Amino acid sequence: MKSEKIIKTPAGQQKVNEEKDMTMSERIFSVRIETRSQKLRKDLEELIAFVGGMQIKDMSDPGGYDLFIVDIGEEHGKDLQFVGNILSAGVAGEVFLTSPKTNPEILIEALRIGAKEFFPQPLNGEEVKDALIKFKVRAQKDRTKVIAVPAKRGKIIDVLGSKGGVGTTTVAVNLATSLAGMEGVQSVALMDMNLLFGDIPLFLGIEPVFDWMEVTRNISRLDATYLMSTLYKHHSGIYVLPSPSKLMDEYKITPQVIESLLKLMHTLFDYVVIDSGQSFDDVSKVIMRMSDKVLVVTLLSLPCLINVKRLQNTFRGLGYPNDANVEIIVNRFHKNSTVSMAEAEKNLDKKFLWTIPNDYQTTMSAINQGKPLIALKTESQISKNFLDFASALSGKTQAKRNGFSWFKYLKDKS
Ligand SMILES: Nc1ncnc2c1ncn2[C@@H]1O[C@H](COP(=O)(O)OP(=O)(O)O)[C@@H](O)[C@H]1O
Ligand SMILES: [Mg+2]
Repeated sequence: MKSEKIIKTPAGQQKVNEEKDMTMSERIFSVRIETRSQKLRKDLEELIAFVGGMQIKDMSDPGGYDLFIVDIGEEHGKDLQFVGNILSAGVAGEVFLTSPKTNPEILIEALRIGAKEFFPQPLNGEEVKDALIKFKVRAQKDRTKVIAVPAKRGKIIDVLGSKGGVGTTTVAVNLATSLAGMEGVQSVALMDMNLLFGDIPLFLGIEPVFDWMEVTRNISRLDATYLMSTLYKHHSGIYVLPSPSKLMDEYKITPQVIESLLKLMHTLFDYVVIDSGQSFDDVSKVIMRMSDKVLVVTLLSLPCLINVKRLQNTFRGLGYPNDANVEIIVNRFHKNSTVSMAEAEKNLDKKFLWTIPNDYQTTMSAINQGKPLIALKTESQISKNFLDFASALSGKTQAKRNGFSWFKYLKDKS
């Protein structure tokens, strides 16, 4: 009964009572504070301790958080993108923002991305306490929305080229964006393993702030939140991790780095699509071993098919990826190829999973505009082909939004 004197208003009284019901069920909510200011952290920690029933978790925890309190600093654009990412990835149940700045743009943007509260600085202790109590009531009611540990087990799809220029990046980019257009697919990530020569930003018309380097540099603090803050969210809905455009020896991607990264990524995404280019080093081997599917992209030409055969033999020698997980994708398919499908399949002793038509004009036009094929203004056979491919691979149908097709949806957005 004594605790009721904390809050004097009748409305507050009711909240205190509700809070008591909650303590009976002993659900402790996890809170993460993201700020560079020690003073602000300390103030928030004290307020959280005062309200009770919440535990402050830090980065070493790989799971998600029930509540995220983010201090929006000087680079508010970047901070707000980070908040948007963690909310849409389901890493945070709710987000509260705080900032010394209170200009209307920040407030509007904060609301738009779905922040529940905004506290101007210096903090008003009563206001924060009240918001924390309300948060606990909401979180307790919404038991289905337990964030604790995201339990996804997404699929890793490794796209490997049998030769340079066969369309590995084209396949990776367009498969990823098409997968994002499938019904029930919530999150897709696209990673570029072509060190130094990664083309994904070009294909998607983006200028990402972070790349692989950022992840390897901070591998010791790699967790869901940190990862989501480094990925670039493309408007097709996919999250992109580009490759560094310069090489630095001290931040090499090691097999250990890629292993921890992929382990984390498949808990966060339904699909992780990797553009592996033609690389076949220790890092690529880890990717192959961990992938659910390795898609080998080839043309129906002798030099490419010979390489596919070499890859098949290498896989058998290594003992992975398992033959059942390897699929051959024929790109730039046309009827008059020098080697026929039947001949090629016979020689490789494997049925091809998919063929993508030859359409240089459309693929080039997409690259020149920096757009995935499904976002082009004119629907082409090759864009439809990629949606069908994504559908066949995922076993899902194309999503419809508000009665419109995914095509239109993306076109409107781009
Ligand atoms: N299905 C296709 N039909 C015609 N041209 C294609 C097709 N797929 C890719 N290309 C073209 O091939 C070139 C190389 O593609 P890219 O995806 O960058 O290959 P890689 O990543 O294997 O080097 C690009 O100019 C692209 O437009
Ligand atoms: Mg490429």
